[in-house]
Amino acid sequence: MFKTIYKVQAAAKLLETTVDSVRRYVDEAGVKVARQTNGPKTRQFTIENIFDIASWRQENKPKIKIKKKRVITVYAPKGGVGKTTLAANLACVFSLMGLKTLVIDLDFQANLTLSFGYDSEITDEEAEELEIPFERVVKHHFGHLVPGWPGGRMKLEDVLKMPFGASGPHLIPSDLTLDRLDTILTYDALEGKKSDLKIAALISEGLSSKNEYFNISNYDIVIFDAAPAKNRMTRGALLSSDYVLAPVSLERYSTKAVSYLSSVLQDMRDDFGRSPEMIMIGNFHLPNRLRVYSQVSKLSSEYPGSLLNVMIHRSEEFPKTLSEEDVQPPLVLAKPTGTAAEQIHKVGKEILHKMEMI
Ligand SMILES: Nc1ncnc2c1ncn2[C@@H]1O[C@H](COP(=O)(O)OP(=O)(O)O)[C@@H](O)[C@H]1O
Ligand SMILES: [Mg+2]
Repeated sequence: MFKTIYKVQAAAKLLETTVDSVRRYVDEAGVKVARQTNGPKTRQFTIENIFDIASWRQENKPKIKIKKKRVITVYAPKGGVGKTTLAANLACVFSLMGLKTLVIDLDFQANLTLSFGYDSEITDEEAEELEIPFERVVKHHFGHLVPGWPGGRMKLEDVLKMPFGASGPHLIPSDLTLDRLDTILTYDALEGKKSDLKIAALISEGLSSKNEYFNISNYDIVIFDAAPAKNRMTRGALLSSDYVLAPVSLERYSTKAVSYLSSVLQDMRDDFGRSPEMIMIGNFHLPNRLRVYSQVSKLSSEYPGSLLNVMIHRSEEFPKTLSEEDVQPPLVLAKPTGTAAEQIHKVGKEILHKMEMI
């Protein structure tokens, strides 16, 4: 879907290895990489090629040992702090490291779905009119996978999207009508049904491959991108998760947002006897600013061990707006040699260590 092409140097950056190793992997794995038709005939890697190599490497010459599966929700009670950006980029980084990754867009604003190249707003007819490929149209979402969905639930394979090929991160997309799932869960609750644990039950059955409609036992990591509203879907995702990843803007004061999140988690423990463990990531970092230092030290003393060491700088490399016309893949794929991509790779690794996955 994305037409991005990489030279071998960029491929090496993406796979965090040397140019020689990339050449060797290509030969040994038998991945079909096109060559420039005129001129020096250099190799031209597609995004699919890169993920195929990453997946082959994990199976044949693993650089990491995956010890556990994990479910995480990227959530913060505020919008615009980088949740979706982080979810999309981390999904790519985890896949590049060789983890089988599933991302679930649980925000009906569907920004993550958009950043993976889909256009949630349009119908098949409109796509035809606008000459947009049908593969970019979204017809189903997470709600269709939940038992009790009006009109009957669907099978995972009929909802799942693979924007970067089979070896890249997989996506359960979203569109506006996902909002309906919240209404359904609310009605369930009014009827006295245990709606809060419905999503958690689905995820845990799916992971243990007990569910023929929703078998996610093959994935190493499942990432929910949640809406900033603490609606029933978000709560369901949090109750399904081992960890909540909360981006914290270091540019503005964030203590209120963090203490609110931590009270949400405390309520969850009171009501359900469980809650995901909190991991905070400093985003929009501006080094050498006094206020940033005071924020960081405040957060680290109030929530010991929760804040990651690696922070993501405010960077012009991130797109200001997502537009349907000019779809760029997530930044780690669009600008693999940039500083921001390097920071996200580091963040990804620190998170996996913290979650004791590797
Ligand atoms: N470190 C950063 N530096 C600059 N811009 C960023 C950074 N992180 C995110 N952004 C931008 O901020 C905007 C909001 O990010 P987004 O991930 O959609 O937030 P959320 O999901 O929390 O609402 C996007 O335009 C994104 O490109
Ligand atoms: Mg978002």
